[in-house]
Amino acid sequence: MNLKLESNRGPVLLKQEQLRDEQVLPSWTGGLRRISAASSWENALEDALETPTILIVDGLELNRRLLRGILKASNYKILEATRPSEAFAMLESEKIDLVMPDLVMPEMSGIEFCGMLKADRRTQLIPILMTTGVQGVENEVAGLESGADEFLIRPLKPSLVRVRVRTLLRNKALIDSLEEAETILFALAQAVEHRDKYTGMHCERLAAYSMALARAMGLSKPDQLALFRGGYLHDIGKISIPDNILFKRGLLTDQEWEIMRQHTVRGEDMCRPMKSLAPVLPIIRGHHERWDGSGYPDGLRGQEIPLLARVMQVADIYDALTTSRPYKPAFTHDQAIAMMMEEARRGWRDPELVPLFAEIARPSMETHDPESWQESADTQESLANMRRHLSR
Ligand SMILES: [Fe+2]
Repeated sequence: MNLKLESNRGPVLLKQEQLRDEQVLPSWTGGLRRISAASSWENALEDALETPTILIVDGLELNRRLLRGILKASNYKILEATRPSEAFAMLESEKIDLVMPDLVMPEMSGIEFCGMLKADRRTQLIPILMTTGVQGVENEVAGLESGADEFLIRPLKPSLVRVRVRTLLRNKALIDSLEEAETILFALAQAVEHRDKYTGMHCERLAAYSMALARAMGLSKPDQLALFRGGYLHDIGKISIPDNILFKRGLLTDQEWEIMRQHTVRGEDMCRPMKSLAPVLPIIRGHHERWDGSGYPDGLRGQEIPLLARVMQVADIYDALTTSRPYKPAFTHDQAIAMMMEEARRGWRDPELVPLFAEIARPSMETHDPESWQESADTQESLANMRRHLSR
């Protein structure tokens, strides 16, 4: 299929072949330039991070070799210690991003080892993934209570280990990039998110989607980092919105809307004192603006809306559409893209970014059937509900 994009210099028609490894797209500053395609969400996120270092602590060579084998395809630096004393020495001399101890070790148990790492200010933020061959939920509970972030029982499932490792390393990378005050803000932002049990992992998905889109647009690493942080912080202002408004199931009154809309400005106020968050402020303030000027808080139109806020908005809408919420089911990828295209045609969304997102979200759109979702009254109602909630 071909992709037609409206650039600042008029329409640009791209053929499917051009959308594979290297893309020719209108640059968001004016002309045309060649950029690399983002191959996947995972890669986009991981490419922005440095090579992480993992420390395996296990007395048995067989166990260490097994973990090495599971992780060897990923771009990690792997260190090994046969006993806790050796591990502590390595933690003194190396920057470790993840520790993987066994429950049973020489010198002390994995639980004691975990407890010591978490009690030391220098090592307490390093994530711990504990493994064991000893069966029993009591061990798992004890391991987690001692401070392990994850606990896996052998036989290990390689794909599960890789996913857990990746998630823990991402969180560590985020923590590393923060100042202490920022750490508190991010913790608050996640607390806001976790109050709504239907949106688990929302922040992480937003960060990944928006960074992938940013890479496809050829945006800089600092812009990608701003989007990564914006994925977590964009709704932090909701912490100041009363629960009876934030979680109201029915329609909001005009006065309640007025309060709800303030979350953008309040979020910006909260983050403004931190210089390092300056690039994230336009995302926090501008993520509810609409292309046609009907959004808030400033009613900006078109390219007046900060670019990173437009990127975040596309990611936010896609995530809201493709996950289930109390007021709507999860739509499929194809339905979500069709709805977003429709909103772009209505003038609500950036007419360049939505088609680009559709293209990188899945290389083939041949199966899209924009008509299929429009016919169902249930779907229409779900969509109306979602738009109402999303505009909060
Ligand atoms: Fe918001």
